[in-house]
Amino acid sequence: MALIMRKMSLLAFLLFGALALATSTSRILPGGTSSMAKLHEQWMAQYGKVYRNAAEKAQRFEIFKSNMEHIESFNAGKHEYWLGHNQFTDLTNEEFNAIYLSGYKRSTSSRATPSNFRYENVSVAETNLDWRSMGAVTPIKDQGQCGACWAFSSVAATEGINQIKNGNLISLSEQELIDCNVNGQSHGCNGGLVDDAFQFIIDNGGIDTEINYPYKEADGSCNSNTESNSVVTISGFEDVPSNSEASLLNAVSIQPVSVAIDGGDPNFQHYAGGIFTGPCDTELNHAVTAIGYGINTDGTKYWLLKNSWGTSWGDDGYIMIQRDIDTVEGLCGLAMQPSYPTIN
Ligand SMILES: *[C@@H]1O[C@H](CO)[C@@H](O)[C@H](O)[C@H]1NC(C)=O
Repeated sequence: MALIMRKMSLLAFLLFGALALATSTSRILPGGTSSMAKLHEQWMAQYGKVYRNAAEKAQRFEIFKSNMEHIESFNAGKHEYWLGHNQFTDLTNEEFNAIYLSGYKRSTSSRATPSNFRYENVSVAETNLDWRSMGAVTPIKDQGQCGACWAFSSVAATEGINQIKNGNLISLSEQELIDCNVNGQSHGCNGGLVDDAFQFIIDNGGIDTEINYPYKEADGSCNSNTESNSVVTISGFEDVPSNSEASLLNAVSIQPVSVAIDGGDPNFQHYAGGIFTGPCDTELNHAVTAIGYGINTDGTKYWLLKNSWGTSWGDDGYIMIQRDIDTVEGLCGLAMQPSYPTIN
């Protein structure tokens, strides 16, 4: 899908370029800018973007143009992954970081690493695993402009272990965590902690469904009626030993796992498919869920991550990211703070 979109925009470039060439005998057309302006119009229509006035549109167009030029020039090179337009194409990287990567708070207390990592002796037989094909992953959700990645990540891991243990894939409520998990270090749309969310689900005796307690993309007051409606419960949560992709592999082979990453790079903003190989920092600022792993045909190992930015970002909302790199933190720091809920 993402690849088709990319090809279409390339086609649009080529067609318009030919058109501009054909008419250039009668008048000079600034082909580059006008075809880009047309792409911007198409992009606005596709993502339902409306600007307040012409000045804002002109300012957004310049950012869009600069991003599209980066995307096209990156894609012209040889890489394991490619970039494309998405809902973030008219944002500067600074804006993207400020709006979409403010939701992950690092724990100030020590991590809940058990003395005995329960999956330490697991032997991983499969080279490829995708929890989607095992029915343990709900469709991609969209957090929008609410910094609640921590809620989406912990909910996705909880949905996964519930399906694996109880056989039912039930979409669960991020909004309940945003509204009701307010006594710890989590602050709804202003950011929170994945382990804090697990602890809330335990203390609350469970969590309600997405349908009963739907997402509002904003902070709200806790609905105590639905808060007490606990459809899915967990009995505990544990941290994967930090900075060990091998330990993370053991855990993901058993269940989807919440992981924190640094998603701040421009190429992460515009990622559209393939195996992301960086560049990437390790200033953890986003929580996602590891739902699988594999090796592609040229031997590059990858993790499969579920994001919460809708289906127009990335590979229909997912990202493959390089696995088993030289630094222990993992690419984008993904091995630094993974954790998972448990059901006895
Ligand atoms: C893993 O194996 C070692 C050696 O047999 C054992 O001491 C340890 O308790 C095992 N860990 C778990 C979590 O079962």
